[in-house]
Amino acid sequence: MVLYKNEPLTGHPCSRPMARECVATLPASYFSDPKVFNLELQAIWSREWIYACHENRLRMTSPLEMTLATFPISLCLSESGSVAGSLNALTGKPDSRRIHTHVLNGFVFVNFSDAPPPFESTHVGLADEFKSVEHVFTEAEFDFWGHLSLPGAFNWKVFSDNYNECYHCPTSHPQFSKVYKIPSYVVDAREGYFVHSVEERQEGGKAAAASNASVTELLLTESNESFPMEAKRLYDESYSALNQKIKEYAKANPPRARAKAHEGGLFVHVFPNVGINVFGDFVTTLRWNPASHEKTLLQLEVFVRKGVSEAEMLRFSNFLKWVEIEDYVLCEATQKNLALGVYQVGVLHPFRENGLVHSQAQIRKRLVEYVSQERELKEKVGKQRDSSTTLSEESGTLLN
Ligand SMILES: [Fe+2]
Repeated sequence: MVLYKNEPLTGHPCSRPMARECVATLPASYFSDPKVFNLELQAIWSREWIYACHENRLRMTSPLEMTLATFPISLCLSESGSVAGSLNALTGKPDSRRIHTHVLNGFVFVNFSDAPPPFESTHVGLADEFKSVEHVFTEAEFDFWGHLSLPGAFNWKVFSDNYNECYHCPTSHPQFSKVYKIPSYVVDAREGYFVHSVEERQEGGKAAAASNASVTELLLTESNESFPMEAKRLYDESYSALNQKIKEYAKANPPRARAKAHEGGLFVHVFPNVGINVFGDFVTTLRWNPASHEKTLLQLEVFVRKGVSEAEMLRFSNFLKWVEIEDYVLCEATQKNLALGVYQVGVLHPFRENGLVHSQAQIRKRLVEYVSQERELKEKVGKQRDSSTTLSEESGTLLN
């Protein structure tokens, strides 16, 4: 059990306290055991509000079919502008059924439960966070630029953990660390989401970002960077397709003079599967979409402020690509290490890894709750132990 301090981490009314001392991580098996993954599908992914896509995409493609945490779904936008979702028929099941949806500033969340708690009650204060950046981000001022999907050989929690701390930034993200002051990085845990904040270096990339000097596409395969060639190829191919859209977009939307540069904004992870980042003139969503215990799709959506120039878009694309491949390579290496069985459990720093302390506690709590409920239900209906389902055997790995 984690012991927390009495006072919240920050002055924000929704801020949760940090742990009093170092906290044990989830055991390594949670990141590599298919039984744990199957339990998570029931205990977390079937119950939580999970991010699906931005409604701008539905304006272009409706219905939109996708697989979300292994569940095939369809989303569509009605003429009145409301979003409806359905869980498509699974093999051997008779038909599809409606799922619950919630739209926050155009970001569409879905929930597979029959009667989920209202989104507002499980994400207290999140709507206010978006309100606080309305001067930077209003849907009407942004266009959908494009999206991409990259297969990663790692468990979704490996990526989520990486996303929720910046301990690794000085060594893993040298470019990012030139733009931001890493020691100032804070992850403030709230109910159902995490707000990241970091001070920007005045002398960093901002001066370059304001310039309209021509920019060339960063091609990792042609660089000396020591990333694995397979990852370099994957990133070059995916980003080239995205960058092609920049040219088309810039042709149709000539750059416009803007009264002032829009800076900063909001960096938020909404549990369990998305990082929504408002970077002034750009907005991204990075969704980690679990496919199995050791495979996760990284799915990025990018939005751009109307009137931003081709050079600014390309510079942002290069920045994003670089930071992302660094995380991607790190996560694949971490998963390989976990599979070796050497690492079993570690400790989390109460402040530097506050995001992990809270997100891992949330995951553990959801799994334990689910298994306890399943046991209670089983006792009630008086099922024989030898007729237990595979899921119950999986539950045993957590409670026994
Ligand atoms: Fe990172």
